[in-house]
Amino acid sequence: MAYRTIIEPFRIHSVAPLRMTTEAQRREAVKAAGYNLFGLHSDDVLIDLLTDSGTGAMSRDQWAAIQHGDESYAGSPSFEIFRSAVQELFPFAHVIPTHQGRAAEKILFTALGGTGRVIPSNTHFDTTRANIEYSGAEAVDLVIAEGRDPVSRHPFKGNMDTARLDAFLTQNAGRVPVVMLTLTNNSGGGQPVSLENIRETSAVCHRHGVPLFLDACRFAENAWFIREREPGQGEREVSDIVRDMARLADGMTMSAKKDPMGNIGGWLALNDDALAEQCRALLILTEGFPTYGGLAGRDLEALAQGLKEVVDHDYLRYRIRSTAYLGEALAKAGIPVLQPIGGHAVYLDAKAFLPHIPPLQYPGQALAVALYEAGGVRGCEIGTVMFGRHPDGSETPATMELVRLAIPRRTYTQSHIDYVIEVCGEVARRAPTLSGYRISHEPKQLRHFTARFEPLA
Ligand code: F0G
Repeated sequence: MAYRTIIEPFRIHSVAPLRMTTEAQRREAVKAAGYNLFGLHSDDVLIDLLTDSGTGAMSRDQWAAIQHGDESYAGSPSFEIFRSAVQELFPFAHVIPTHQGRAAEKILFTALGGTGRVIPSNTHFDTTRANIEYSGAEAVDLVIAEGRDPVSRHPFKGNMDTARLDAFLTQNAGRVPVVMLTLTNNSGGGQPVSLENIRETSAVCHRHGVPLFLDACRFAENAWFIREREPGQGEREVSDIVRDMARLADGMTMSAKKDPMGNIGGWLALNDDALAEQCRALLILTEGFPTYGGLAGRDLEALAQGLKEVVDHDYLRYRIRSTAYLGEALAKAGIPVLQPIGGHAVYLDAKAFLPHIPPLQYPGQALAVALYEAGGVRGCEIGTVMFGRHPDGSETPATMELVRLAIPRRTYTQSHIDYVIEVCGEVARRAPTLSGYRISHEPKQLRHFTARFEPLA
């Protein structure tokens, strides 16, 4: 008998309380935060879907591994345990631990970036783009056309446009030090990249003599989508698929706050000995000695255990199914969501949700604030607030106005998600009465984190 209900493949072992709030309290709190959800105290948030980064629940065995941590400055056995867990899935010669993903990016692009260089990706995540630009290089997104269309049902909307990449590498010969590939494509809706596309991207890169690096934060979710959707992959172990993905690349950056199930952590891994030596020298400047990087020995142990747990099929089936459960329920209720549903998050299409609010009055922000006020649900605007302001000071609408509801790993139950569905339904009923916002204060860079807003009457 195959039962229809896919249950959480764990029991709850330790709990943290949620503080109930009223709508009146939430209206006060968000007003005091300048209508910026990053400015809220998290105990004023009921269901926190701001990010899936570092917010997941560690397992009993990860907490046990923490007790095993060895805090030696050099040569800690915890590093050996961490390195072999990484190399089991990603067989790169050098593994360099960092405190989180952006630290790995900073080191890699300090070594490889610089003025006059260009670095393509399917879509760069914001910290990746910012680190490239900070080095003086240019970041370019070359995702397939379907990846920019919120209603396209392409099964691998994260794929690189390999024809454009090929032409790009010809036109920019000598200027491209590395090509990145983000798995899954977070800024493009948590959409996967197929194994075939990784293979083609790798072939194009190597034909041009350019290394390929994976930004592999959500590698296990990506591999599960390959197993489910790619012809010929359905019988394979996810860990085998991951190794195939890794073997096609020359290196990787990683935020271990995502699929490796950590609350903190990251790494840079690569094959090139000379580049690794240069990166280790940079690591010592800002992160630490190469056998701990930016982490404590106990963190390395917890990540090693997390890497074993994340490739478990029962976990991944539950993970992808439970994200789809939220997305499908919203779609069924007539709420516009980006399709297909991503791995780690559901992305609401605020442009379709609030068509009466023009892009420069920030429909995504209006929707995110309304979800918080109505039900204490915190999502994240990914639209004109995040991407609309340019280095020359101009402001233009973003391609898509999205609100991301990111699902922390193993943290919320189905009834929490049923509550989120109800809150979204209530906000949909209020939609015609919602108004846009103006920005009353913003910093020069990365304004979405600290800008202050005022509601337009
Ligand atoms: N690459 C991708 C694809 C990411 O999603 C993130 C982080 C990073 C790199 C940077 O890693 O945070 O450890 O420094 N994404 C988080 C998010 C913050 O909410 O999507 P980090």
